[in-house]
Amino acid sequence: MKKTILITGGAGFIGSHVLRLFVHKYPNYKIVNLDALTYAGNLENVADIEKAPNYEFVKGDIRDASFIDQLFETYKFDGVLHLAAESHVDRSISDPMSFITTNIIGTVNLLNAARKIWTESFENKLFYHISTDEVYGSLGDTGFFVETTSYDPKSPYSASKASSDHLVRAYSHTYGLPIVLTNCSNNYGPNQFPEKLIPLAINNMKNNKPIPIYGKGENIRDWLYVVDHARAIDLVFHQGVNGETYNIGGHNEWTNIDLIRKMCEIMDRKLDRDAGSCASLITYVKDRAGHDLRYAIDSTKIKDELGWLPSLQFEEGIEKTIDWYLANEEWMNRIVSGDYENYYKQQYVKR
Ligand code: NAD
Ligand code: TYD
Repeated sequence: MKKTILITGGAGFIGSHVLRLFVHKYPNYKIVNLDALTYAGNLENVADIEKAPNYEFVKGDIRDASFIDQLFETYKFDGVLHLAAESHVDRSISDPMSFITTNIIGTVNLLNAARKIWTESFENKLFYHISTDEVYGSLGDTGFFVETTSYDPKSPYSASKASSDHLVRAYSHTYGLPIVLTNCSNNYGPNQFPEKLIPLAINNMKNNKPIPIYGKGENIRDWLYVVDHARAIDLVFHQGVNGETYNIGGHNEWTNIDLIRKMCEIMDRKLDRDAGSCASLITYVKDRAGHDLRYAIDSTKIKDELGWLPSLQFEEGIEKTIDWYLANEEWMNRIVSGDYENYYKQQYVKR
């Protein structure tokens, strides 16, 4: 094997797409997926590659420093792609501490372990930290986040990710650890946990349940198909410049309500329902505390320097996504039959 790579959070939404791409594209890399299998981790997401000869799964928690040190000692990783995180803003509002321990302390445990095994030389080593555009805070009606936009995180989730970004840069500045970072906009696509807007809405439309829209539905997100994010991660891991940050986004802004209306039209057609049926499920609910108004990424740098562009138009991406959820009913049913029900009750009925 040419390299041994650690991917953290590979049983989650984005991590599973990154893993699949790497396992297929790089047969000469040994790829280790480290995941604690929290409520958001699901090995079904990577069932299709589990028997690949260059793939190995390790169950473990990035919060456990001695376990992480041992893992790095055993595998002597050449590169790390760090995606494991607590990732849902609403959960960070009700339980901030798990975001602090996983997103901040967990990241520092990985940085320390990489530093320890790479003491002799940093040559051909890389720690790649995958982050979010939410660290930049909230935009008004105009403007875009660029790589030099000041950090201004507003939720416990984005503050914990901002903190981890700062620590990764501090390890580069202080110890010379080779790093790259990317900050990406909202992802959508297959295998996303149905606490996030798009899969939650698809599931509710299908089951004729109310579609909860926070506030007036005027908040804006910039949506990117997850496979295009995975392609960007591949490019940055192999061609990104040490110490640099790249913003990744879809140039695809939607207000939440326009997005849901668009999805309702598609779902009416696919489920053979009368026009307007799904839209009648739209229900305005109490707004999220501290709800960021607008995110929008300027991805000129990654486009100009690394030649990355999204491959899918949104219309095609959302059709593919809806088709996947409709074809993978069992995947969704298994998730929504467990603890999900308790989460859903607390999140939406209590309001
Ligand atoms: P996800 O919640 O779907 O998956 C997270 C994965 O991390 C899960 O498999 C979970 O089991 C694992 N994990 C959580 N805590 C862990 C721990 N303590 N130890 C080991 N594993 C643990 O998240 P996602 O949406 O796939 O996001 C992946 C990364 O991308 C995160 O770092 C997130 O901040 C970032 N990101 C997400 C988006 C998005 O739209 N989803 C956008 C930009 C950046
Ligand atoms: P989400 O998918 O949670 O991603 P993020 O908060 O990281 O952007 O939410 C996307 C947008 O949809 C955000 O503005 C909050 C809103 N939203 C709702 O209106 N209703 C919901 O039930 C959820 C989960 C989100």
